[in-house]
Amino acid sequence: MGVFDLFTQDIAIDLGTANTLIIHNDKVVVDAPSIVAIDRATNKIIAVGHDARMMHGKTHENIKTIRPLKDGVIADFNASEHMIREMIKSIPGLKSRWFAPSLRMVICIPSGITEVEKRAVRDSAEHAGAKEVYLIHEPMAAAIGIGVDVQEPKGNMIIDIGGGTTEIAVLALGGIVCDKSIKVAGDVFTNDIAFYMRAHHNLYVGEPTAEQIKIEIGSALEDIENPPAEYAVKGRDLLSGKPKQVIVTYKEIAKALDKSITRIEDAILEALSMTPPELAADIYNSGIYMAGGGSMLRGLDMRISRKTELPVYVAEDPLRAVVRGTGIALKNLEKYNFLMR
Ligand SMILES: Nc1ncnc2c1ncn2[C@@H]1O[C@H](COP(=O)(O)OP(=O)(O)OP(=O)(O)O)[C@@H](O)[C@H]1O
Ligand SMILES: [Mg+2]
Repeated sequence: MGVFDLFTQDIAIDLGTANTLIIHNDKVVVDAPSIVAIDRATNKIIAVGHDARMMHGKTHENIKTIRPLKDGVIADFNASEHMIREMIKSIPGLKSRWFAPSLRMVICIPSGITEVEKRAVRDSAEHAGAKEVYLIHEPMAAAIGIGVDVQEPKGNMIIDIGGGTTEIAVLALGGIVCDKSIKVAGDVFTNDIAFYMRAHHNLYVGEPTAEQIKIEIGSALEDIENPPAEYAVKGRDLLSGKPKQVIVTYKEIAKALDKSITRIEDAILEALSMTPPELAADIYNSGIYMAGGGSMLRGLDMRISRKTELPVYVAEDPLRAVVRGTGIALKNLEKYNFLMR
């Protein structure tokens, strides 16, 4: 360790639409919802992450909660900068008593991002204290996090189903050969469920409840092994206005999600059809890798496997695959020459 290293701290950030994760010294030190609570009167930040999430959907007129990222990119520059700053502040042992360390960051970005959006990520990081910023494409980070050797002369298909976007990419020789990104992912699934509950049960539920339904009994198929039990959902009756409870089954939720999942399937087929033949042959052998929270939906791997007639593997701990890969890239800055400065 050189003298310079003493004053430099490295962190890897997965700035996601739904969750922000940070790795420091090989450990995940931040894993929090990307939500900020703000006092409307003073514009001061009241809470970020878990604390802000508890307030989500339960605020009164003086507090608002915002999700600073939309569809994988920064939608509210100020809020996201504050969020990054607060989350970095919460990292144990990062700040010494004597000096503020200079920060070197690797941050991942969606593959379809524009130059302006890229600039916003870089600026937010710099305003939050970064001296050196490197950017890495999310599918690349996901692949590294899964343990794929991305620099081999061999094609690999990665699908990252996050909160805001589904990114499908074919990687080879350390680069993205072709990719397809659609704004249908976990958050759309959640909205589909909320809409279904209104339309079919006259029950008005908030986003946290709809997400809970998805996690407890959500399914991509109407025929799955070990189906989850029926689930009681509470909300407000649209007709009477009174609080009420209804019982739903996983089959209903599978119906509610069907259209959105079909859109993801179509995007995957399109990405496969754009893949050069030599790489298609590789993918035929190695199958498809999936990461991101949305890939945890019951039966989704099976459904995609049936549709593509390829084996589908879901990453271990899919919510953390991207940040794991970003952390590995951070440790090997010289090796991974595809990192952008
Ligand atoms: N067990 C589960 N089943 C289904 N969906 C889940 C499960 N756990 C989490 N999710 C969903 O995963 C999504 C969040 O995934 P992730 O953290 O990978 O997204 P993100 O990286 O923040 O978003 P993006 O990459 O689009 O910017 C949310 O929509 C969440 O509801
Ligand atoms: Mg993500």
